[in-house]
Amino acid sequence: MKIIMLGAPGAGKGTQAIMIADKYGIPHVSTGDMFRANIKNNTPLGVEAKKYMDQGQLVPDELTVKILLDRVAKDDCKNGYVLDGFPRTIPQAEVLEKALKELNDGIDFAIDVDVPDENIINRMGGRRACLKCGNTYHVEFVPPKKEGICDNCGEALVLRDDDKPETVKKRLDVYHQQTQPLIDFYNERGLLKSVDGTKPMNEVFDSIIAILGE
Ligand code: AP5
Ligand code: MG
Ligand code: ZN
Repeated sequence: MKIIMLGAPGAGKGTQAIMIADKYGIPHVSTGDMFRANIKNNTPLGVEAKKYMDQGQLVPDELTVKILLDRVAKDDCKNGYVLDGFPRTIPQAEVLEKALKELNDGIDFAIDVDVPDENIINRMGGRRACLKCGNTYHVEFVPPKKEGICDNCGEALVLRDDDKPETVKKRLDVYHQQTQPLIDFYNERGLLKSVDGTKPMNEVFDSIIAILGE
């Protein structure tokens, strides 16, 4: 099963993608997590990506497409994957579609986690992220068992550099301009499913299971 998570920054794509990956036994592939791992390790790709991410801008397609295609070509992606944060532009979606078509393959579902902009700003300030395993928490809505520590791997949780209110506003603008058109792109292909992302995390997950099947 090959799934794409669509939705604004902070809609809960990552939160739901991790739960999907766990339930269906497929890898969670997040371009944002891959870039943050590169930044943490100070690789040339990380240095380049950080310039854009800290401004709330998208990393150029040339850099993004390559790391994504390399990742999904790995063995563990043979039975499917859940893509979180990719594609984010129409050209990225076209490259993915073409690469899969060459393998006689395609995406099964594009799930839009729908959350209005007003709710997003409130969520971001409380988010805490694990840069080691990619898990995400919220100080109020999704707290870790032990304050400041990742439940999954024990790493100290951090505030992401791009979660400042001004940067979040910029990311929302970029989302509306460059990423939202993907909703029509996948709708035209009959792959789009929408869920109400303002509901509590487990209710959102239940509606996703209703789409994907038990
Ligand atoms: P990326 O890491 O993909 O960030 P994003 O799309 O901005 O999305 P977020 O990770 O901020 O939000 P999310 O939807 O995953 O929400 P989460 O589950 O954390 O990308 C970062 C940057 O990398 C981009 O700006 C860009 O520069 C670059 N980049 C990445 N991919 C790229 C690409 N393909 N092309 C170009 N550039 C790219 O949830 C948010 C918060 O809400 C959390 O605190 C969570 O605990 C909480 N929460 C979740 N669900 C609920 C709920 N139902 N109720 C209440 N709280 C909830
Ligand atoms: Mg995320
Ligand atoms: Zn962790």
